[in-house]
Amino acid sequence: MPQQERERSALQRREALKDVLAQARGCLRCTELAATRKTVVFGMGNADADLMFVGEAPGASEDEQGLPFVGRAGKLLDQLLAEIGLERSEVFITNTLQCRPPGNRDPLPVELENCQEYLLRKVELIEPTVICTLGNFSTKLLRGDPTGITRLHGQPEVRVLGARAVRLYPIYHPAAALYTPRMLETLREDFARLPALLALGAPEQPAPQEVPALPDAQPDAEPEPEPEPEGGPTPEQAQARVEVDQLGLF
Ligand code: URA
Repeated sequence: MPQQERERSALQRREALKDVLAQARGCLRCTELAATRKTVVFGMGNADADLMFVGEAPGASEDEQGLPFVGRAGKLLDQLLAEIGLERSEVFITNTLQCRPPGNRDPLPVELENCQEYLLRKVELIEPTVICTLGNFSTKLLRGDPTGITRLHGQPEVRVLGARAVRLYPIYHPAAALYTPRMLETLREDFARLPALLALGAPEQPAPQEVPALPDAQPDAEPEPEPEPEGGPTPEQAQARVEVDQLGLF
């Protein structure tokens, strides 16, 4: 299939992402996580983003709100983005796990494996040119190698994830940098190299394989949003709003 035909319209991308989001919401692959989570934290940001961040796993605030990086580490991430002239609405932010591990314990290998398919599907649909892995878990997962973040941070490399070649850029996790000024300085320096990395554009792509067909876009099929009743949105409207936020249609 020619490259042009493989390019997805923004609308098709969002529709396909909504399907993946619906699947994720009902996911029962990790029995413990499915039983203890409040929400599935799919990710948020721009579905057409060139830059994707992959953190570790939702914490308590993320589980509560259904959105990634909303706690102190998230505030730092927002600040670092602002320092390079970017906003959350211009990037896509997700995690290796979509559910909070109880007590914020480390993700288990089987959980990382269970959730990897969702992450690869997001990469396939959003088609970022740069993926910033935040900390050890996402770096090891996406590189398929146990080398740690201390050795790898700040060194971009081209990697093929699923059917897509991306510039993988490991950096320290903002949560770790919150408490270690030297690490924060390094994180800031690594962040400062992101604009130049983005300016390189997408790396050369591998020969196309069979790409599963996406549902046809139906621009007229979107129902008009119901007006909000006085006293705030209905639970359905609140849920729909989270859904839109999670796809970053700010
Ligand atoms: N919040 C997230 O969503 N992910 C992390 O890795 C840490 C905090």
